Amino acid sequence: MSPVTNDFTPPDPFAPATLGPLSLKNRFIKAATFEGVTPGGLVTQELIDFHLRPVRGGVAMTTLAYLAVAPEGRTDDGCMWLRPAALPGLKKFVDTIHAEGALVAGQIGHAGPVANAKKNGVPSLAPGKLFSPVAGKFSKAITSSEIERVTDDYANGTRLMVEAGFDSIEIHLAHNYLLSSFLSPKFNKRKDEWNGSLENRARFARQVVAAVRDAAPANVAVTAKISLNDGVPGGFKPPESTAFAKMLQDDGHLDALEMTGGSSLANPIYLFKGDAPRDEFAKALPKVMGFGFKLFGKKFMPSYPFEEAYFRPMALDVRAQLDMPLIFLGGINNLATVQQAMSDGFDFVAMGRAVLREPDLINRMQEGTQTEGNCVHCNKCMVSIWSGSRCVVDFPNPIVTSGPVR
Ligand SMILES: Cc1cc2nc3c(=O)[nH]c(=O)nc-3n(C[C@H](O)[C@H](O)[C@H](O)COP(=O)(O)O)c2cc1C
Repeated sequence: MSPVTNDFTPPDPFAPATLGPLSLKNRFIKAATFEGVTPGGLVTQELIDFHLRPVRGGVAMTTLAYLAVAPEGRTDDGCMWLRPAALPGLKKFVDTIHAEGALVAGQIGHAGPVANAKKNGVPSLAPGKLFSPVAGKFSKAITSSEIERVTDDYANGTRLMVEAGFDSIEIHLAHNYLLSSFLSPKFNKRKDEWNGSLENRARFARQVVAAVRDAAPANVAVTAKISLNDGVPGGFKPPESTAFAKMLQDDGHLDALEMTGGSSLANPIYLFKGDAPRDEFAKALPKVMGFGFKLFGKKFMPSYPFEEAYFRPMALDVRAQLDMPLIFLGGINNLATVQQAMSDGFDFVAMGRAVLREPDLINRMQEGTQTEGNCVHCNKCMVSIWSGSRCVVDFPNPIVTSGPVR
């Protein structure tokens, strides 16, 4: 959709819609929520079951997250990695979701400075030497030839995903992962052609987007997840984020943009808003790291008051300046918020925590049995990424479920 005009009629979010070459049964997408059930970086039955829940619960497309393009680009050693050994599992994953009548997106990425170099057993790569609080190690400054190698890794990873049958490829350009850390004036302090103007900082991301589009056939959608504001002082924020979105639109390689914010490196709760589960985080870390986290966790992980649709003001600015399809994300729990997003001219909604908590929420909204999700934004699900991502809060008893979410 383009910016809203006077004669604009908002679409029905439950009616079929087109995303690039794809036909979706409705406008609901399950957002990327790293599943944490891929030991050895391979598909498991648990991973498939994880995605079957929201798919049977009504989303038109689910997003597998995330698929690293190289070993050092994994967040840690339990992260999926795109290589031939992963192909049979990925094919089975896609076929199973397709058999349920839903589409499959896969988030492709390189964690860069967010990677846990200690667990991966390989140094993490970043624009320069950056400290990772989770790994307790510094990243290595990526060289120009490694930038070309990583770009090729994206193209190769895309080909593998295409072979596995993915319908859509979501390129991770946010959260201070590798490509987004290049965009950040705070984290990119290079003295070469990859820093300085926004054009220079955006070059790596744009070259990757072009390489992915080039490697994907026309029947596969390519989208990107971009940061509106990484929430880090001196970091990436409007108006640069809107200017970057415009560059991506003008390059013409993408079928849609999904808008997010925050930094997995330096300000994770900005991504989510709500409580900061610092105690749970400290407990999940190795002893020494956990102690350090207890001391300094408040600085790394401040909390933010939760608001429904918390990225809306910044996302509206992007909507006003771009014509291309946009996916609205961040704090969607209510049907009214979905309808508001449609009235605002956004094309799709992506939902993370609300669907983690109630995988059948979309069906229930469509049936009219529930208009509001029960997620309380405690963000304890964040810590569950190391043991199988899920809502860890006890449901009020009984929460009625609608039909066969097996
Ligand atoms: C457990 C968990 C894991 C997540 N993993 C990813 C990820 O791998 N990639 C990503 O881009 N976003 C990830 N996110 C962020 C979500 O995609 C989404 O941006 C965020 O939860 C805000 O949307 P929501 O308010 O609908 O939850 C994760 C979120 C959660 C709760």
